[in-house]
Amino acid sequence: MPLPEGLSDFQAMALGTAGFTAGLAVMRMEQMGLVPGAGPVLVSGATGGVGSLAVDMLAGRGYEVVALSGKSEQSEYLASLGAARVIDRKTLELGTRPLEKAQWAGAVDTVGGALLGWMTRSMAYRGVIAACGLAGGVELNTTVMPFILRGVSLLGIDSVACPMAERLAVWRRLATDLKPRHLDTGIARTVKLDALPGVFQGFLDGTGTGRTVVDLA
Ligand SMILES: NC(=O)c1ccc[n+]([C@@H]2O[C@H](COP(=O)([O-])OP(=O)(O)OC[C@H]3O[C@@H](n4cnc5c(N)ncnc54)[C@H](OP(=O)(O)O)[C@@H]3O)[C@@H](O)[C@H]2O)c1
Repeated sequence: MPLPEGLSDFQAMALGTAGFTAGLAVMRMEQMGLVPGAGPVLVSGATGGVGSLAVDMLAGRGYEVVALSGKSEQSEYLASLGAARVIDRKTLELGTRPLEKAQWAGAVDTVGGALLGWMTRSMAYRGVIAACGLAGGVELNTTVMPFILRGVSLLGIDSVACPMAERLAVWRRLATDLKPRHLDTGIARTVKLDALPGVFQGFLDGTGTGRTVVDLA
């Protein structure tokens, strides 16, 4: 199947599964009624592949994006992608109440675990969460309160078995209105195959950002 017009081979690889997942998350949240101007949209694991691309896509669509990251030293990077604000995950108070202060109109979560539990409890009325990942844990501990008192929606984002018609629609949007503005100039870098071990180490020790495309030539 040919690439949609507007995407180069490099851009398609730089987006990859991470970009597809971020795009699907935005599309599903918008199908649930999320619009720019509804309020802040939180992105967790914001310096990662899915996170960076979600920040860029949402900011490009006019959303007020709040990036949640464990890398305070990458605040400038996240601001350059369009984050209006950066929250340091290490200083975040998750609280324990069934409902915390209502803050987020939307959320793209790549972390799971306690952070996702907190998100359910701190969504604004009718807030929408797109649960994409498990970088911080697989468990989800919450109550029904956010769902029955605030009308919160928790959407599961699955890139693997996504039906083909929807898959094609996401890629068309990745080539047009969701195309990240900083894909080539900040998020993605190219490495030669023999430089990969150094890249892996960065991801393993949590210092990596964005996306890495391997040049096999
Ligand atoms: N649903 C799907 O179909 C689908 C598709 C692709 C990926 N995923 C999942 O989505 C997640 C993100 O993928 P990715 O490609 O973006 O990975 P990635 O590039 O490695 O980014 C993950 C980010 O999560 C944060 N993080 C890492 N360890 C953490 C921890 N222990 N606690 C909290 N945050 C932590 C870090 O961001 P900060 O330092 O900025 O916080 C890190 O950059 C993964 O769990 C992956 O398996 C799911």
